[in-house]
Amino acid sequence: MTTTATGVLGIDIGGSGIKGAPVDLQSGQLIGERVRIPTPAGAKPSEVAEVVRQLSAQLGGQGPVGVTFPGVVRGGRTLSAANVDKSWIGLDADRLFSEAAGRPVTLLNDADAAGLAEARYGAGRGVQGVIMLLTFGTGIGSALISGGQLVPNTELGHLELDGREVEPWASAGTREREELSWKQWGKRVTPYLQHLERLFSPDLFIIGGGVSKKADKWREYLEVSTPLQPAGLQNEAGIVGAALMAAERQDAADHTPAVGRRKSD
Ligand code: BGC
Repeated sequence: MTTTATGVLGIDIGGSGIKGAPVDLQSGQLIGERVRIPTPAGAKPSEVAEVVRQLSAQLGGQGPVGVTFPGVVRGGRTLSAANVDKSWIGLDADRLFSEAAGRPVTLLNDADAAGLAEARYGAGRGVQGVIMLLTFGTGIGSALISGGQLVPNTELGHLELDGREVEPWASAGTREREELSWKQWGKRVTPYLQHLERLFSPDLFIIGGGVSKKADKWREYLEVSTPLQPAGLQNEAGIVGAALMAAERQDAADHTPAVGRRKSD
């Protein structure tokens, strides 16, 4: 595929910034500097689409674009909106972004994108079994990958434990708002990880999101028997995973016999 030479564009929609860069999918590295545009206040669909248009125009390239979204994504539609405007729920965001970018867009959940990137190029590289990535930022995202295959939209940040939802209790945003020490935060996250261990028996936990670059501060406070690693690609995992998914989808479409192709492919 020709996209490897110039890179495939990945765009990561976050609560405070929308970041994009072309990605070299051989190495999982960004090609050049990533560009960041602040997320429009309220993160309404039309305004976010305008940023996707700008990034796509500025960063160039001809191929597909991968875009992450901080909510459930199925069949190109955004189906939940825990930390963004509620008008995303049920929206055909894939089409909205494809029209904005003027190129085919593949949309996927932000944590799923980070998980795919970490499994391929980062902390999970070479791990054969079950990888569970958790991102701690404004929300808590999750990705479950087994033998390289992603089970999308696991949404384990919304799990209820001890009578409360985990996300508003243990996210990095909550840690900052409540001015919790890393030790206090670890006391909230540890029972959550132990619960996930009991439910999924992962071979590796990867801790991503904003906290991943401060692993030396929290590592000792997360007490689990499963091996645990901070994300290797840190803030870039979403961009890389989005580009990877877009390229894989394009490859699959290129190899689908025209006869068997659906109109939407
Ligand atoms: C959303 C997830 C998302 C996570 C991190 C949660 O509130 O429900 O879909 O992955 O935040 O952005």
